[in-house]
Amino acid sequence: MLIERFDTDEVLASTLATRLIDAISLNPRLVLGLPTGRTPVALYRELRWHSQRGHLDWSHVRTFNLDEFVGLGAGDPGSYRSYMQAALFDHVRMTPEQIGMLDGRAPNLVAECARYERAIAQAGGIDLQILGIGANGHIGFNEPGDTLEAETHVAELRAETRRANAGWFGGDTTQVPSHALSMGIATILRGREIVLMATGAGKQDAVAGLVNGQLTPRLPASFLQLHPRVTAMLDRGAAQRLA
Ligand code: F6R
Repeated sequence: MLIERFDTDEVLASTLATRLIDAISLNPRLVLGLPTGRTPVALYRELRWHSQRGHLDWSHVRTFNLDEFVGLGAGDPGSYRSYMQAALFDHVRMTPEQIGMLDGRAPNLVAECARYERAIAQAGGIDLQILGIGANGHIGFNEPGDTLEAETHVAELRAETRRANAGWFGGDTTQVPSHALSMGIATILRGREIVLMATGAGKQDAVAGLVNGQLTPRLPASFLQLHPRVTAMLDRGAAQRLA
């Protein structure tokens, strides 16, 4: 795993944005896996800035987001669909067909997960998967536990994850859905290249486990050690426990 350290999360975000611009100009049909949450906010700001100035051509790019809350979709302010529209999709030239998102309001959630796996495969698989990491070591919504799910699935969110997401729901943890749809660990590991972003001291233990820990479902991100092309982009806080 390649470890990269940055003085601030802004420098991290602008570096990753520049790499994405390069990757898309090299391969205009890039298939991107995308995260939501606080960590990539600065990345999406950078991407909007560059897109508005014509530095990025999104017209053939495909995207697949990692996850979505069960029960929420377009029009729900707390949904990841709404987050992504505001953060990126409303600001770039992309058609709905280019954008892959799980539908948290699908009547049959298991069928929705299977549809998503098929859509990713039909797009040729994910070329570059960008990830955040939970303070508890989750990636996507693959939560710590005795076992992990390989494919896209319905996940029960742990209490700490619901607390960490309360900010998107007016600070009220009880409003955070109890379940989400999420790519599985194998879905993520099938990405040809993976870039994980982690910022802030709150992520230092998870990052230490990711880089130096044992492979364990108790720290789902540790499974990234199995992948041959992973870069962890860290700010000072998140890198604190690394030598
Ligand atoms: C979100 C996702 C999650 C987040 C993680 C970190 O799409 O997949 O794994 O990346 O919960 O969230 P933040 O960035 O808010 O600390």
